[in-house]
Amino acid sequence: MGASSSHFSAASVPDGSLAGKRIVITGGSSGIGLEAAKVFAAKGAKVLLTSRSQPRLDAAAEEVRKATGAADDRVETRPLDLSSFRSVNEFADWYVETHGEKPLHVLLNNAGVMAFPDRRESADGFEMQMATNHLGHFLLTARMLPSLLRTAGSRVVNVSSMAHQWPADADGTGISDAVAKDPFRVAAASGGFAAGQYEPWKQYARTKMANLHFTLELNRRLEAAGRAGAAGVTAISAHPGYSATGLQATSGSMGGSVGAAIGNALFAQSAAMGALPLVMASVSPDAAAGQYIGPSGTNNMWGYPSANTPDPRAFRADAAEKLWDASTALTGADWSALDAPPRS
Ligand SMILES: NC(=O)c1ccc[n+]([C@@H]2O[C@H](COP(=O)([O-])OP(=O)(O)OC[C@H]3O[C@@H](n4cnc5c(N)ncnc54)[C@H](OP(=O)(O)O)[C@@H]3O)[C@@H](O)[C@H]2O)c1
Repeated sequence: MGASSSHFSAASVPDGSLAGKRIVITGGSSGIGLEAAKVFAAKGAKVLLTSRSQPRLDAAAEEVRKATGAADDRVETRPLDLSSFRSVNEFADWYVETHGEKPLHVLLNNAGVMAFPDRRESADGFEMQMATNHLGHFLLTARMLPSLLRTAGSRVVNVSSMAHQWPADADGTGISDAVAKDPFRVAAASGGFAAGQYEPWKQYARTKMANLHFTLELNRRLEAAGRAGAAGVTAISAHPGYSATGLQATSGSMGGSVGAAIGNALFAQSAAMGALPLVMASVSPDAAAGQYIGPSGTNNMWGYPSANTPDPRAFRADAAEKLWDASTALTGADWSALDAPPRS
């Protein structure tokens, strides 16, 4: 971190320090993912932006190049729909073929959707928020793991939200209790999430708790495999507090796009500020395994990043383990790379 300032900002990342580093960003076409990409590119990294839309990616890549002066070959794009296992696997097949042998320093799992007012289903038949925010990233991480394992000191950063601490399930238990009781019900589209029982905000909250469980369980498994730490892979969570992005407009429950725009203008910090926790988690030597990095201001909604304290239920290892098993079964994720001995 820069010696002149006590808080982490883009200036804390030394110029040129990310030269030769490759960073894959989901949800790189807008919001905090795009702002994080600008910092990474400005400091010398090669970024690969992904999202569902090639036109939006083209515009985002142009914005990154203009803002940073990065050459074309340092800003790549590739379409990827996290809500579709087929799309995740197609992206991963392409990645392995074209980049698989190269080092991968950071996988920034940032894409997300929030609280669709109506219940939607993914192409694979899962509730859309869980499919996008958790299941797709779970599968993507498994597919990218060989490249990450090949890169000493690489990181997986999962973008969660303060929403992970929102209300308990209908039966009075917390989200993690519900996961521990019936992970398939939480991770899948069936069970308690039939059309009439869909609760947009609670489901968003569940997906964001799932992001935290995933981070901690991935670390536990990396450690058990002897693949954690400076020579291996580190998983860290981050969140942007309340930041003005396109996210709020996806939720009809926030008064539609006009209501979201007013709320953003009055209460939110900039997307660039919201991106700082992601940047810190991705590249700062001050970020550590399992931390939950977010704004340090009032209620962790605004301000410069620091390690925040998540809801205690995030540390429910039993819930995390069950969610891992359910997510593996639902996505078909193959984690055998964890068992392979390190290449010499
Ligand atoms: N903004 C906040 O206040 C806030 C607070 C807490 C947490 N977060 C988290 O921050 C992350 C980023 O959100 P944001 O605020 O930057 O919102 P945003 O501007 O709406 O960005 C979301 C990104 O995700 C991509 N995306 C959405 N669905 C996708 C899918 N199925 N497959 C692949 N990409 C998809 C979008 O790209 P395309 O539309 O081009 O596919 C876009 O690039 C999310 O995980 C969100 O939960 C945000």
